[in-house]
Amino acid sequence: MTADDFRRLALALPEAVEGSHVGHADFRVKTKIFAGLNAEETLGNLKLEPGRQAALVALRPGVFTPHNGAWGRQGWTRIDLASAEPAEVREALWVSWRLVAPPKLAALHPEGGPRLRLASPAEIDLILDLDDDACGVYAGLDMDVLLSHDHPFVHAERARWLAGAAAGRLWLCEVDDAPAPVGFVACDHVDARPYLDQISVRRAHMQRGLGAHMLRHAQAWAQAAGELWLTTYADIPWNAPFYARHGFVRVPEAECGPELHAILESQRACLPAPGQRVAMRWTPGRGRRGAAPR
Ligand SMILES: CC(C)(COP(=O)(O)OP(=O)(O)OC[C@H]1O[C@@H](n2cnc3c(N)ncnc32)[C@H](O)[C@@H]1OP(=O)(O)O)[C@@H](O)C(=O)NCCC(=O)NCCS
Repeated sequence: MTADDFRRLALALPEAVEGSHVGHADFRVKTKIFAGLNAEETLGNLKLEPGRQAALVALRPGVFTPHNGAWGRQGWTRIDLASAEPAEVREALWVSWRLVAPPKLAALHPEGGPRLRLASPAEIDLILDLDDDACGVYAGLDMDVLLSHDHPFVHAERARWLAGAAAGRLWLCEVDDAPAPVGFVACDHVDARPYLDQISVRRAHMQRGLGAHMLRHAQAWAQAAGELWLTTYADIPWNAPFYARHGFVRVPEAECGPELHAILESQRACLPAPGQRVAMRWTPGRGRRGAAPR
């Protein structure tokens, strides 16, 4: 793998940002460094529990090497990027992230829990398929929100999600009990403000908290900008009421920007129940409220 592959995997972790110190790139969660690159960007650096470090060093000699002295004893480990496999590095980065992240944040991403990773534009068909499957849930309400793949609305969606994947703001959700991703969250900017474009979970995996997990990720993505917008259905249990429980508030249309207006209009032109489409906004500090009565 290359240094850019390592960077991409590190930055896919929750709330990860790139920083630098003494000429080296590093990757931080809440200001704490969980990984880095050497100055030449040939070696990755991360932290493992000592037992896992010893096992990886024994299993993959020359790929994983402990740092010298106290740093190495604390678990800091070098990875020879040219000979490392992306899957083992992704797993090691998760371990390091969990060791370094504040306990409250780490608890939201337990080992064996859902994992988010950036999507690649080459995965656009998988993303469209996931969305078709997820939107089948509306059939239970006798609402058909599925449009043909030739419809201009779907073409526009495809173009936005391709751009989102290329720009690093579309994530896929993986779980241990499925061989392929089971959900995705696509973020964007509308009226120059962070916007949650779509969040979808395969029907077979709904109502296990994956939607909430991805929603929190989108909120973390938007945190620094101070707000996150979306459009949704007002009265559908997994739409506005779900978002309201995660701190979103309905916004009167007079307060929406021109691009958001245009989105609402394009949705009303081809989705069922057009009068039910509403805009919502979240601002940091508004977290999850009580669970819904089921
Ligand atoms: C919205 C969506 C992503 C939620 O995914 P999920 O993994 O089921 O999400 P969670 O398990 O975190 O929570 C789902 C919430 O919706 C409610 N919900 C979900 N499906 C429901 C159903 N069929 N009937 C009633 N309530 C339902 C649950 O009460 C739950 O709320 P709570 O945890 O606050 O009690 C998923 O339903 C989906 O993909 N829907 C189709 C696409 C869509 O509508 N996306 C949103 C576009 S605005």
